[in-house]
Amino acid sequence: MSGHRLHWIAAAVAVVSLAAAPGGPPREAAAAPAGKLEIFSWWTAGGEADALNALFGLYRKRSPGVQIVNATVAGGAGTNAKAVLKTRMLGGNPPDSFQVHAGHELIDTWVKSGYMEPLTGLFKSEGWDRAMPRGLLEILSYQGQIWSVPVNIHRANILWYNKKVFSDNGLAPPKTFEEFFRAADALKAKGIVPLVLGDKEGWEAGHTFETVLIGTLGADGYRGLWTGKTSWTGAAVTRALETFRRMLTYVNSDHAALTWDEAGQYIIGAKGAMLIMGDWTNGWFTSKNFSGYGWAPAPGNEGVYDALSDSFGLPKKARDRENVMAWLRLLGSREGQEAFNPLKGSICARTDCSPTPFSPYQRWAMQRWRGDAIVPSVIHGAAASEGWATEYKDALALFVTSRDVAATQRALQKACVNAGVCK
Ligand code: GAL
Repeated sequence: MSGHRLHWIAAAVAVVSLAAAPGGPPREAAAAPAGKLEIFSWWTAGGEADALNALFGLYRKRSPGVQIVNATVAGGAGTNAKAVLKTRMLGGNPPDSFQVHAGHELIDTWVKSGYMEPLTGLFKSEGWDRAMPRGLLEILSYQGQIWSVPVNIHRANILWYNKKVFSDNGLAPPKTFEEFFRAADALKAKGIVPLVLGDKEGWEAGHTFETVLIGTLGADGYRGLWTGKTSWTGAAVTRALETFRRMLTYVNSDHAALTWDEAGQYIIGAKGAMLIMGDWTNGWFTSKNFSGYGWAPAPGNEGVYDALSDSFGLPKKARDRENVMAWLRLLGSREGQEAFNPLKGSICARTDCSPTPFSPYQRWAMQRWRGDAIVPSVIHGAAASEGWATEYKDALALFVTSRDVAATQRALQKACVNAGVCK
């Protein structure tokens, strides 16, 4: 590590001595970092906002003269933020750096269209090409260059449950869909909401359903949906939709009025038993001082890690380029990742973080990350281009009210055709 730091120092010294060359411009002391740094994200919920603030705190220590502008647009999974970002990027007014999912969301939306600067040099000089897993580097890459700095790895396919509700009712976390429905019946009979859902923002049904697809098709079958190898019109997808339709008969009646975190209150208050959501829920529970939760892979998801990664890059027209570079260096550093992730609920993108500051859930996730089959999340930008992911999301949001398996399966197939992957 220190070798790489030295490399940076050497580069900085070279610049200073050039500026001081005889006949050159008047000598000036190297300016301390100043100006602004505008960071755009959708991290407003408990846990998420705390984690972002931890990064800001570290940044301020390193660059006290820089004014940080925290440009957040609330809405889980970036439902609202992505539209605002598009307007700004297309209008030539980008934030200095913005949250973007590693994979298709980064590459298809922003890199191929020429809006980003490559960061390969930064990865090399900071040694991140050795400190991060090769698979992750691959999905950050396009045409031989790396395009953003990942700050974490989130896991999407977790079933969170209230431990006391489960033990009071003699239940164990369901491993299969059959076990899930048996537990759900027992809980319903006791007047407890078996499955908590908050689908106000339109992405949460698609999130839950991607875990049902994994649970029905397995890792390879699920991966094949995004590459054209698995048919969207086949019996397995029909079965997955039927399973999801049945699951929806066990959700809270106010689901359409709640966001994912508002729905989580059902679990904290022991009025609801289970919630299928990503591990930002772990950060959120912690921010609420709630420790009575357990976790397990979503039904049928044992051995599969449904993954996504939050990353930040450098837009070509960023106004405060040097400040962004300092931000990115912090994000990729061990110090930054060890400060951010324990609060966020995720694990480090780096492979060398100490487990000490992490919660029991996160230590479990770290182990699973090393052993499970890894599949990309669609709702969180990894599996498919944004257009396809949006059509998928909208089809599932509609399904919550229509419950029409055949029409939804047709819409899912059409989304794949529109993306040019299915015929
Ligand atoms: C995901 C994002 C996470 C978390 C979650 C809920 O898309 O990657 O960091 O913010 O949405 O908002």
